[in-house]
Amino acid sequence: MTTITTVATQPIAGQKPGTSGLRKKTSVFMTPHYLENYIQSVWNGIGGLKGKTLVLGGDGRYFNDRAAQVVLRMAAAAGAARVIVGQNALLSTPAASHLIRSRGADGGIVLSASHNPGGPDGDFGVKYNVSNGGPAPESVTDAILEATGKLTAYQICETADIDLSRVGSAALGDMQVEIVDPVSDYQALMAQIFDFDKIRALIAGGFRLRFDAMHAVTGPYAHQILEKTLGAPAGTVINGAPSPDFGQGHPDPNPIWAKTLMDEMMGENAPDFGAASDGDGDRNMIVGRGIYVTPSDSLAVLAAHATCVPAYAGGLAGVARSMPTSRALDRVAEALGIGCYETPTGWKYFGNLLDAGRATLCGEESAGTGSDHVREKDGLWAVLFWLNILAETGLSVGELMQAHWARFGRNYYTRHDYEAVDSDVADALVADLRARLGELPGQTHAGLKVTGADEFAYSDPVDGSLSRGQGLRVDLEGGGRIVLRLSGTGTEGATLRLYLERLEHDPGHMNDDPQDALAAIIRAADVLTGLSERTGRSAPDVRT
Ligand code: G1P
Ligand code: ZN
Repeated sequence: MTTITTVATQPIAGQKPGTSGLRKKTSVFMTPHYLENYIQSVWNGIGGLKGKTLVLGGDGRYFNDRAAQVVLRMAAAAGAARVIVGQNALLSTPAASHLIRSRGADGGIVLSASHNPGGPDGDFGVKYNVSNGGPAPESVTDAILEATGKLTAYQICETADIDLSRVGSAALGDMQVEIVDPVSDYQALMAQIFDFDKIRALIAGGFRLRFDAMHAVTGPYAHQILEKTLGAPAGTVINGAPSPDFGQGHPDPNPIWAKTLMDEMMGENAPDFGAASDGDGDRNMIVGRGIYVTPSDSLAVLAAHATCVPAYAGGLAGVARSMPTSRALDRVAEALGIGCYETPTGWKYFGNLLDAGRATLCGEESAGTGSDHVREKDGLWAVLFWLNILAETGLSVGELMQAHWARFGRNYYTRHDYEAVDSDVADALVADLRARLGELPGQTHAGLKVTGADEFAYSDPVDGSLSRGQGLRVDLEGGGRIVLRLSGTGTEGATLRLYLERLEHDPGHMNDDPQDALAAIIRAADVLTGLSERTGRSAPDVRT
């Protein structure tokens, strides 16, 4: 007999799930009752759990194990029929998405703060995904938000912890707990999509690769798929054991945080191919020998060569990118004669396009790439996609990029992040530029003429829903573009993101330093926004 306890509590109004669930300092989630209050709000917001099946897993960060036990006990108290949980409460985000879909679950809980550092002083997060395997759409997150404001009590079963270290099944009251190997179903899906034999032959032929799992969740996946299945030698995967604080690192696959890998790829005797993934395995970084591939370019290259991959051999229905992502993808879509959708930042906006079969591939400048195989971005999938293309074309990463730019032109691109900015200063900066958008066209700033300016609003072509306030855009003479938006995932003050882009056609200028190639636009952005003066910052915290 399992006892269900009802704990009286206070509303936790205003805990709005952002672009990727609710993300807070770990210490906040560990405050007594906080996690419980939020989980109960999720259950209430989705109309209860009675008889439902959920998938549960996380990226292995600090508090993942204990939070998973709380979710299990609260799911049982709420009358869930079954929870499918990854062994040791681990599941990469794309693997969770796949399990929700393949097992016909009603939804899932992913415990992760993605690429944010973990540990007692780091970040934690809870994300609810719906039955298509994707992040909850705004209608659902709004309902969860509303539930946080009405909360009066939560319910939890009083039981011992379930042993999640072994694959098998257990009962928690009337609820079944099924503990699954986190890798096997995901691996089977990858084997269906890609030509594993071709990739195996490439590696057997001496092609050398390095994969940095950044002490996060993709370690077990990469060891199993790249080394054990595709034959890459042991040692190919580095930092492959998930650790609660990610080896005290910052599991964000970009040239700054994946510096060890970058140094190796830019050094002498570099491998042919390097890649990294983030905390929960949905992001990817791609590097060739001596060449870093921006996420925007990577997306465009995957689209241009999609038919190399068995699952996409019939061509793409369409492609999609988030608004701030460079327009390199648009050029490929134009050449292929397929639709190219521009969506707000955040993976959830791709869901309807994928479900409706309007887009096959999609991606974001923030190192996220994916397809209709799941409803999340997928780091290892992107790595396998690249390997499949390299195996099929026989080109190196560098040769592939040069050929791509020669054909489509090069969209020089950079994102400048200003982190932990005073929220009032950041809000005022954005508000002031917003107020001036109408008068900008025709004006010249730092020598560049503005040809258009607006605030991005998205009308979903599938369900007609409208999302306003999705970033300020300024178009410049000669095809340049400045985008400014406030991050929805930061946990300290405000993060201002400035996205800068310019299309280059001159064959003599295909290999410039992006910061140099964009210098004039960077200056114009500063003049337009008054950023350095208002924030007192002379340079961004991160340039990607
Ligand atoms: C960031 C990225 C965005 C991504 C999100 C979740 O959101 O910019 O592309 O979807 O993380 O991984 P932001 O902090 O900009 O709101
Ligand atoms: Zn992530």
